[in-house]
Amino acid sequence: MKGIILAGGSGTRLRPLTGVVSKQILPVYNKPMIYYPLSVLMLAGIRDILVISSPAHLDMFRDLLGDGSRLGIRLEYAEQKEPNGIAEAFVIGADHIGDDNVALILGDNVFHGHGFSELLRTAAARLDGCALFGYPVNDPWRYGVAELDADRRLTALTEKPTEPVSNIAVTGLYMYSNDVVRMAQELVPSDRGELEITDLNKAYLAQGRAHLAELGRGFVWLDMGTHDSLLEAGHYVQILEQRQGIRIGCVEETAFRMGYISAEQCRRLGAEQSSTEYGSYLVSLVEGDGVYEARARRTAPAG
Ligand code: DAU
Repeated sequence: MKGIILAGGSGTRLRPLTGVVSKQILPVYNKPMIYYPLSVLMLAGIRDILVISSPAHLDMFRDLLGDGSRLGIRLEYAEQKEPNGIAEAFVIGADHIGDDNVALILGDNVFHGHGFSELLRTAAARLDGCALFGYPVNDPWRYGVAELDADRRLTALTEKPTEPVSNIAVTGLYMYSNDVVRMAQELVPSDRGELEITDLNKAYLAQGRAHLAELGRGFVWLDMGTHDSLLEAGHYVQILEQRQGIRIGCVEETAFRMGYISAEQCRRLGAEQSSTEYGSYLVSLVEGDGVYEARARRTAPAG
């Protein structure tokens, strides 16, 4: 399966933060925002990933992430000239997708939860058409909303309904069979002139080929469209990392745990940034007896 991270858009709601910087580069606690969705695709077992962004910002991502070889993955880059809709990612990414299935993730989404890697791999293995991931929210009118029947099967999708029929939001992570390229090319732009992701998903639903997996209580899904949600996501990451001594969205760790890089490569990536806790954490993952756990905080600081 190939992967796409969509990291474009105009970021207008986050101005002036996004005056000269891409939204998806902004810090979420101690990492650039794009690390979080990148680590999700890597956790799904995807190693061939296209980053799509606006012409003004694409080089920032190239400078930050390079060709991916440091993480044992392949990264390519493509421009989205204007924010013409999320589903345009499959038109832009047609060559990258080739004959494969594809997972798309929005560059401003954070996912975290126990068993997420397995859930993603199961969804990828069972994929026939389109796999969506639903999450209960308090403000469904801000999202694509899923309607489910009594057996929790997907029956309808609506983009930002004024009167939502459920509280299940469709998150910014989507998996598709290879025909998504053709389906996206045939999609009619909405009144806003965009290739809407919800219209694409509705086309799969009409064919009986759209399925929704519900992310339950054990999961966290955050998107970062506003100043408040950006700060909240940072706080969430900070609290968990400080309390548990783990890292969320740490792409080097994901690469190591998924077997994309060796222990030695992980140690080297940590040593390069050894003056930071982030670097020490990476080194600590491979220290000692090969039990790959964070050890950095197991002893009380001196003094
Ligand atoms: O976050 C999940 C939601 O994402 C879904 O529930 C909605 O169904 C889906 O339409 C989308 O809603 P948003 O209101 O978040 O869409 P927005 O236009 O803000 O775009 C989401 C991200 O994708 C944002 O970081 C910018 C980027 N983007 C968006 C468009 C339309 C692009 O890179 N290119 C685009 O053309």
